[in-house]
Amino acid sequence: MKKVFLNQKSNFTKEEYLLYLKKIEKINSSSEIILCPSACYLTYRLPSNLELGSQNVSIWKEGSHTGEIASRQLKSLGVSYCLIGHYERKRECKETQEDINQKLNRLLEEEIIPVLCTESMEELESELINRSIIEQEKIIIAYEPTTAIGTGNLPNLEELETVIEKVKKRFPNNLLIYGGSIDEKNIEQLKKISNLDGYLLGNLSLDLDKLEKFLQVLEK
Ligand code: PGA
Repeated sequence: MKKVFLNQKSNFTKEEYLLYLKKIEKINSSSEIILCPSACYLTYRLPSNLELGSQNVSIWKEGSHTGEIASRQLKSLGVSYCLIGHYERKRECKETQEDINQKLNRLLEEEIIPVLCTESMEELESELINRSIIEQEKIIIAYEPTTAIGTGNLPNLEELETVIEKVKKRFPNNLLIYGGSIDEKNIEQLKKISNLDGYLLGNLSLDLDKLEKFLQVLEK
């Protein structure tokens, strides 16, 4: 069964989000769908066909850290997965590899599965992250090339397949997913790449009609 992560980023008002939940409940799918809403909506009960993911976590365990959300707080809300190291957080919030490594540890302490986003093999090889991955088979690797995130430009499929194979060979015990400009059409080609355990959807996750089509193509 493929895992499909829906990264909603900073989208939707409360009303829009609640309507989304009502509609997504009706979608029939054999994939494991993990919804990662904005943190302010994590407390809303999800329909039974979805699991809950967070888009971020604090580097701190708990305590006096204004505005931060700690891993044990996420755990208490039923969060099963958490994205870390997303390109947008590195670029806009200046998140460092040291931050990411701390977040990894915070999540593993609470048995929340980290979804480690990375834009290149070189980054994965970086000392800190590499050590954590090798020691922790639980970590899911999300390969998301910068040229594909939010651009509508899927990488060349042969090149993508080569990188995916390399990562899988290097980290055979970790699940591996792909993210970046996936849509309801290109999934037909993308799904031919073996070694992928799932997908991370940004823009596509916001449009339920397109998401339903994506799932139909993926599952046929
Ligand atoms: P996109 O975003 O699907 O809109 O390209 C993917 C992501 O940022 O995880």
